[in-house]
Amino acid sequence: KEKILVDPYGRKVTGLRISITERCNLSCMYCHNEGADCCTCGPLGHEMSPELIGGIVREAAKFGVRKVKFSGGEPLFRKDFEEILACLPPLQEISATTNGILLEKRAKTLKAAGLDRINVSLDTLVPEKYEAITRAPKGSLEKVIKGIDSAVEAGLTPVKLNMVLLKGINDNEIDAMMDFVRSYKGKVILQLIELMDIDPQLSKYTIDSKALEKSLDERASEVRVRHLHHRKKYIIDGVEVEFVRPMDNSEFCAHCSRLRVTADGKFKPCLLVHDNLVDAREAKSSEEIEKLLRLAVSRRKPYCTSTIGIEIRTKTKEDIKKKT
Ligand code: GTP
Ligand code: 5AD
Repeated sequence: KEKILVDPYGRKVTGLRISITERCNLSCMYCHNEGADCCTCGPLGHEMSPELIGGIVREAAKFGVRKVKFSGGEPLFRKDFEEILACLPPLQEISATTNGILLEKRAKTLKAAGLDRINVSLDTLVPEKYEAITRAPKGSLEKVIKGIDSAVEAGLTPVKLNMVLLKGINDNEIDAMMDFVRSYKGKVILQLIELMDIDPQLSKYTIDSKALEKSLDERASEVRVRHLHHRKKYIIDGVEVEFVRPMDNSEFCAHCSRLRVTADGKFKPCLLVHDNLVDAREAKSSEEIEKLLRLAVSRRKPYCTSTIGIEIRTKTKEDIKKKT
């Protein structure tokens, strides 16, 4: 029997991206909610237990999965995140993506429980802009920065700052963000992210990615391409910068090695595709989890987002409020 997971397009699955909750304390203007339309989680439950998460990862690890990324909603809403981490088998890398607001007090315990590194969403260093983008209360940006400091101190490094680029809002802050990152002396990376305009209202914020790429190419002392989602990695004035371009869909998806898991335990072939899900909760044994994993991998599509005309559905802000 084949010991790895390979989809019909020859892509090996070596990572899982696991949403552990739909709950979130922010309501970012561009949020894709990890394509959570298909999830039935609410405040009262259906979130996967630490044991189920552990079972899924253990099974996936037998077939070549080496990296796990935890996401949300906001993963730190799970008070038992440390417990979840304790249920995992040894892996090459365990990471999470957070908005950082609740990070300050958790960084140490997360590291002790096995989390290797963390990504923090941070689009701007200007408090008023932060509040406008995330709809967070005043004082939140300060909390995020304390969270980043605390993650660096705890060794959740490199801490990666996710900056979604928004024309006319934060596209003039790339250099300021590089200066901020530089002050952490190599322990923080800047990740620039092309906006996925999941809603037509967002299109006006789309930046000229080609022009930005050209300028990064010119400024860099070193350029490499990272396999996952075919992103470029730069060294610019001593700062490590990655540029993720999900809208360049064919390369992005052609180099996708992750299978997604929704917060209520469904394998999802692609982040922004909502059909063809496979419910892992139906499994009664590890053999059954393996069967369902293989089924989900067999349902992966070549490209997941709008360029091939698959409808992208996201929840409305009203839906989110109902759930949180
Ligand atoms: P690491 O670099 O390993 O930490 O992972 P990452 O950069 O992929 O993780 P992160 O959660 O920080 O996501 C970065 C960007 O990639 C975000 O904008 C995500 O929405 C986007 N992304 C991740 N997976 C997918 C996917 O399957 N499809 C699309 N369209 N975007 C994705
Ligand atoms: N386009 C690009 N990136 C997005 N993120 C959320 N919504 C979008 C979008 N529409 C990013 C956030 C977060 C990560 C999980 O996904 O920056 O850090």
